[in-house]
Amino acid sequence: MIETVATTPFEDQKPGTSGLRKKVPHFQKPHYVENFIQSIFDAAKPEPGASLVVGGDGRYFNREVVQTTIRMAAANGYGRVIVGRNGILSTPAASNLIRQRKTSGGIILSASHNPGGPDGDFGIKYNIANGGPAPEKITEAIYENSRRITAFRIARDAAPDISVVGESRLGDTVVEVVDPVADYERLMEQLFDFGKIAALIASGFTLRFDAMHAVTGPYATRILEERLGAPAGTVVNGEPREDFGGGHPDPNAVHAAALINHLMAPNGPDFGAASDGDGDRNLIVGRGIVVSPSDSLAVLAANAHLAPGYAKGIAGIARSMPTSQAADRVAQKRGIGIYETPTGWKFFGNLLDAGKVTICGEESAGTGSDHVREKDGLWAVLLWLNILAERRQSVKEIVEAHWREFGRNYYQRHDYEEIDKTAADGLMESLRDRLASMSGQRFGTLVVSEADDFSYRDPVDGSISTGQGVRIVFSGGSRIVYRLSGTGTQGATLRVYIECFEPDPAKHNVTPDVALAELINTADVIGEITKRTGRSGPDVIT
Ligand code: G1P
Ligand code: ZN
Repeated sequence: MIETVATTPFEDQKPGTSGLRKKVPHFQKPHYVENFIQSIFDAAKPEPGASLVVGGDGRYFNREVVQTTIRMAAANGYGRVIVGRNGILSTPAASNLIRQRKTSGGIILSASHNPGGPDGDFGIKYNIANGGPAPEKITEAIYENSRRITAFRIARDAAPDISVVGESRLGDTVVEVVDPVADYERLMEQLFDFGKIAALIASGFTLRFDAMHAVTGPYATRILEERLGAPAGTVVNGEPREDFGGGHPDPNAVHAAALINHLMAPNGPDFGAASDGDGDRNLIVGRGIVVSPSDSLAVLAANAHLAPGYAKGIAGIARSMPTSQAADRVAQKRGIGIYETPTGWKFFGNLLDAGKVTICGEESAGTGSDHVREKDGLWAVLLWLNILAERRQSVKEIVEAHWREFGRNYYQRHDYEEIDKTAADGLMESLRDRLASMSGQRFGTLVVSEADDFSYRDPVDGSISTGQGVRIVFSGGSRIVYRLSGTGTQGATLRVYIECFEPDPAKHNVTPDVALAELINTADVIGEITKRTGRSGPDVIT
């Protein structure tokens, strides 16, 4: 019944910012998936009979890997596997299920916002019992296991049919198929005033949600259209596809341009939003304004108390280091804690578990709260709608009032994609070499006040993460941050994060490229980007 299959290690199964991501054909190599899943189980060390959540964003290869995971879970002592119907679970819904059902963890199959399809990307991520991504201690153990593996265990029988909700068995293991949306919908209903949002929509407030042919289609259709009464057609591209309709399911100005154009049209709706491949990112657009993710985090933190789930106020805010400091100003004014963590959601888990923070966010379109341990796209949309229903102002009015109260952090991220890995490493190394001598140096009108390579000591468990990005801070507080992506699957991606603060409301209406012009030039001078990469400009600006 259980088969032990001899195997040999792959050298490249090191989880990145968010699990293991590779091209589909790479994952399709014989034993590649099995080796990694066995390495996860060996690191997770489940108690006999433990339960496990399994699901993914429905991208190409999801179906096969769900089956393999179920068969391997049965062979590795799990007593119950809880799987979304047809293997579908958005990342936040999986996190919620792990928590609601008190499972030992979960396996989430996704490459997030990366394109899908036979030549696209695939990914596998392990989440622990709190519902959040495994911390580095565990991802390192997984990697170590993957380099020593000699065999994996798998049930000989096929996995049961997972297209119908209900229970069946594979050997001694119960396979429970659940509606992917139901538990998540209940959670949202507890956090937000559905009645007030429905009343807002009934009063003529118009909206559009672009699911980008990815996993949030069914979630958004159920909640926005069926529960909150938005007219049919509010959710566009709501049919999940294995290749996301050939698109790139990343809700930013480039890939969600159609939504943004729709909102900017003279008769466009009041509110637009989009989510990514696995449903954890969000884009918020109002009539005449695209809300930057860092601003969205700050606005949500400042207004969360307007939603029933946060009526008592929030304990604190956490943001990843490269995220703009707009949220810090909210924390300072409200007298609550602010935490700066390395990039990646896994660093928020301890802070949330310890009750130090309630709301977290990243500049990469991720916002979330202590309701789960992942970022959550639809949650951010619903919190915005709840705030709009309470304040009865437009998105633009709310954001501009926020800037007037707290000041405006102008912000941009410049991505240089698929650059030569050696050139990228050389660029970062050269920056690190120059850090010690940087302070006091002048570039145009800018004077460096501090320069370091960010390292983080987790205030809860004391663990230390080094090399998390080079920060150049100028007197007055402007910053340039350089780091290499940990989610790409080809070459290297350099991310440059550029920020300045403007307290004067009279200067809040220029575009970020104007406000940041000198910093943008300086980023190239200090980073030697053009010289080292041969690129004259970034591929994507967000
Ligand atoms: C990117 C984002 C990061 C996010 C991660 C997973 O990681 O920058 O904020 O947590 O995707 O969605 P990166 O490619 O920069 O390592
Ligand atoms: Zn994602």
